[in-house]
Amino acid sequence: MKANKNKYFVAAKNNTDALVVYFSAKGVQANGILTKGNTANLAEIIADELNADLFELVSNDKHYPDDYRPLLEISKKDIESNARPMYQEDVPDFAKYKKVFIGGPAWFFYWPMINYTFLDKHDLTNKTLIPFATHAGSGLKGIDDHLIEMYPKNKVLKGISINGYDAQNDKDHVKRVINNWLKEILG
Ligand SMILES: Cc1cc2nc3c(=O)[nH]c(=O)nc-3n(C[C@H](O)[C@H](O)[C@H](O)COP(=O)(O)O)c2cc1C
Repeated sequence: MKANKNKYFVAAKNNTDALVVYFSAKGVQANGILTKGNTANLAEIIADELNADLFELVSNDKHYPDDYRPLLEISKKDIESNARPMYQEDVPDFAKYKKVFIGGPAWFFYWPMINYTFLDKHDLTNKTLIPFATHAGSGLKGIDDHLIEMYPKNKVLKGISINGYDAQNDKDHVKRVINNWLKEILG
């Protein structure tokens, strides 16, 4: 993969119609101090296996604290208020993608609200959406249903959820699971 000057966007080696967008928390989490979040590991694997461009959603005002308890509080508040926290930079040419893989941690059966900021901000006409998540037990439950409800005009393919511990510590296993899933949904 080659980097460009947009800090949060990584272009695939070859031209592609697939984009992987994700949010992932860093800092003090339930499973230790993370410099790279669980979903970041998963998103990189999906983008690598698929030759997809990759974009990380990073809040532009430290909306998400690097600490577990305050993060729990803010995530609950955001769901109650249906917040749309802003993120830095953007995908340079969103129009070129046909498939948009979008993922984040499972937070009380939603993604972090910043994921919905991204979806709301872009023209999703004719885009196929594919959800993914890392989690500590609840899987994609709720996330996929919310996606279908919120963006009823879009085709939504079967998503995948990976346990956060595995995404962080068992990448070979995760690669195999991802490859099987990609074959199943894309043929
Ligand atoms: C605010 C918050 C809420 C969470 N809610 C859930 C949940 O409802 N279900 C679940 O299985 N895991 C939950 N978790 C655990 C995360 O989904 C899991 O650790 C995930 O892999 C973190 O990904 P990340 O490192 O990319 O942020 C929660 C974690 C946080 C910080």
